[in-house]
Order: sequence, then structure tokens, then C-alpha cells
Amino acid sequence: MWPYPKIVAHRGGGTLAPENTLAAMRCGLEHGFHAVEFDVMLSRDGVPILMHDPVFGRTVRGVGKVSDVNADQLAVMDAGSWLGPQFAGERICTYRQVLAFCRQNSIWMNVEIKPAEGFEIETGRVVAQITEEVFEVELAAHVAANGGAWPDPALPLFSSFSFDALRAAQVAAPDIPRGFLTDTIADDWQQRLQELDAVALHTNHKYLSPMQAQAVKQAGYGLFCYTVNTSARAAEILGWGVDGFCTDRIDLIAADFA
Ligand code: G3P
Ligand code: MG
Repeated sequence: MWPYPKIVAHRGGGTLAPENTLAAMRCGLEHGFHAVEFDVMLSRDGVPILMHDPVFGRTVRGVGKVSDVNADQLAVMDAGSWLGPQFAGERICTYRQVLAFCRQNSIWMNVEIKPAEGFEIETGRVVAQITEEVFEVELAAHVAANGGAWPDPALPLFSSFSFDALRAAQVAAPDIPRGFLTDTIADDWQQRLQELDAVALHTNHKYLSPMQAQAVKQAGYGLFCYTVNTSARAAEILGWGVDGFCTDRIDLIAADFA
């Protein structure tokens, strides 16, 4: 059973706002989305921030690695101008800022742990520890109610392409659920999910077949797809048994699309 919203705003506000910023989270909310996906990596000094790319250039002006810069320097960098002058001055935000915003506004989170190369374990650990701290009350209630068994819609869902990052998150915060991200589904997918005690497989809808979807569902896992941008495709994969998906087109696909 999929306890989360079916449709999730990708990177906060899809293509309508600068990705992975608080402006994006506000934009998603304005479009009726109470569910977001976003990407988290560590600054040089170990502070989790929202960022997709490991290097500057596309969404934040500059050159070099994001993971070579400290959080106080990242906090003053413009992450909005690339999309349009109306977003000038929108800053890189921290994971803690987004956690606070989402909790204030009852927004469910799919936290994609996106470590810079070489920082997989540290990123998984830090993101999990902070999440556990912030969701302390919900986690205690969850464990008291059912021993920590999935599902609990009050908790966020971690995901990552990095097995090591998810493993570290599992060690640090075992009761916060995990989904394993993979662009294409390899033969050993079920073994990987078992090793991580993961609850869901997250995959690229472009490469998913109806048979694969059926296999994942029959094995009892959640199945989440990225990034679905037309209603026709959404209806098709939901018909295959896909539980949920994220979209860039929060203007085209309604949050309550059925
Ligand atoms: O988590 C789903 C999706 O965001 C994975 O790809 O590159 O957009 O982070 P990417
Ligand atoms: Mg992502």
C-alpha cells in the first residue's frame, strides 16, 4: 500500500520555479501540491543543502564543485536568476530550511540524497540524522504504534541512486523508509532492496515495462517513477500499477490527478 501522495512536484516546483529552492516549494504549494521531491548534498563543511548538480554553472553561476564550498558562502549564492529575472536573489537553501517549510505547510517529502562523489556515506548519515532529529515526535509515535513497520505517511521517504548513501541512512535512521533509485531496473533489483530494507523502487518511467511494474508490485514494494510530464503517460503507468510519480509539469498535471 502506497501511503503517500500519488503525484509529487519534482525539485519543488517542476519547471515553473528555480529547482530546489524555497521559491520552488512555494510554487508547488500554490499549485496545490502537498508533496515534493528535492535533491540534497553536503557543503564542504558538511551542511546539507538543496542542489542537483555537483558543479556550478547551470543553476548557480560559477565554476568548480559545490562540495568545495562552505555553507555560509553557498547561502549567499543566487540560485534563481538562471530561470528568469523575477527569481533573481533566490538563494541556495539548506535542508533544514526546507524541512521547516514543508512541516509548516504539511508538505510530504521525498528526500533524494544526492551525494557528491566520495561523500556518499557522510551525506546519507548526515541527512538521516537531521531528519531523525526533526521528526523525533513522529518517529516515536510511529514506533510506538506499530514497531516502526512501513507505512507511515507522516514520515518522509529517502531515495538515492547511491546504495552506500542509503545504507548509511539506514544505519543512522533505520525507521525512516528508503526507496532505491535506479534509471533502469537491473536483474538484481530485489536483492538490492532487501539489502537496504527498502520499501520502494524508484525508476525512470521511460525504461519501465508493464511486466517489470507487475513484478515489483507482486513482490510487495512501492513503485515510484520519475519524471512524468504528460497526463496520458501518467494514466498509462498508473494503469500498470505504478503507485506514484514526480512531475515537472505541475501546471499540466493536477496534484489530485486520478
Ligand atoms: O528522484 C527522482 C528524480 O529526481 C531522479 O533524477 O536527476 O532529477 O534527481 P534527478
Ligand atoms: Mg531528484
